Amino acid sequence: MRMILIGPPGAGKGTQAPKIKEKYGCCHLATGDMLRAQVAAKTELGKQAKKIMDEGKLVSDEIMIGMIKSELDTNKECQHGFILDGFPRTVPQAEKLDEMLDAKRQQLKHAIELQIDDSLLVARITGRLVHPASGRSYHKVFNPPQKAMTDDVTGEPLIQRSDDNEEALKKRLGTYHAQTAPVTDYYRKTGIWRKVDASKEPGDVWKSLLTIFNESD
Ligand code: AP5
Ligand code: ZN
Repeated sequence: MRMILIGPPGAGKGTQAPKIKEKYGCCHLATGDMLRAQVAAKTELGKQAKKIMDEGKLVSDEIMIGMIKSELDTNKECQHGFILDGFPRTVPQAEKLDEMLDAKRQQLKHAIELQIDDSLLVARITGRLVHPASGRSYHKVFNPPQKAMTDDVTGEPLIQRSDDNEEALKKRLGTYHAQTAPVTDYYRKTGIWRKVDASKEPGDVWKSLLTIFNESD
């Protein structure tokens, strides 16, 4: 499986991607998770990225393309395919991804857009809880952990992302519509673009994804 998941903040990319990873045994590359790992490790890039992320802006194409290239070249899990979550987010990123895959004689199988109205995203984003080490996410109401503020798998504490507030969300949505919506147009022109109604329950969104996969397997 080689695919990308595109959608606004809170659409459910990070909720659905692990299920795809489990089904196909490929790697799940979430660029937001990679940047948050840099922030947690207090690297120079992490310090710069935190400010940009909290402002709802985008980290430079050059840095993001370098990160993805290095994972695709060296991460052993990616030899069995990949799901990109949060990348490409600009048209130059999409063009560079095509170049990288062409050089490897590889092709994307799906570019799936998780479509959802902006008005539904505030509740999803402000209620999200995350396990930083694994990237697992929960929701206070829609998907609560078994024990309050605790990861079901490791028992470690859950946190709220620093960009998960209404003010930052507004900026993230503005950035999405200005810079990432053109990426959906980029793929719409190809035969691999499909859309899914992401406003439904997580289990129903998963069923829609399975329908797309089953049609092409
Ligand atoms: P990133 O981490 O990618 O954030 P995002 O795109 O804003 O997406 P989210 O992670 O907020 O949403 P999601 O779709 O994964 O939702 P989730 O499944 O968790 O990027 C963060 C920042 O990093 C960017 O703003 C940017 O600064 C930078 N960055 C990253 N990539 C970059 C790139 N390529 N170029 C430049 N900069 C980059 O779900 C959300 C919540 O809703 C959860 O609580 C979940 O439990 C719940 N939920 C999920 N599905 C459902 C459902 N169907 N029904 C009810 N609740 C649901
Ligand atoms: Zn995510």
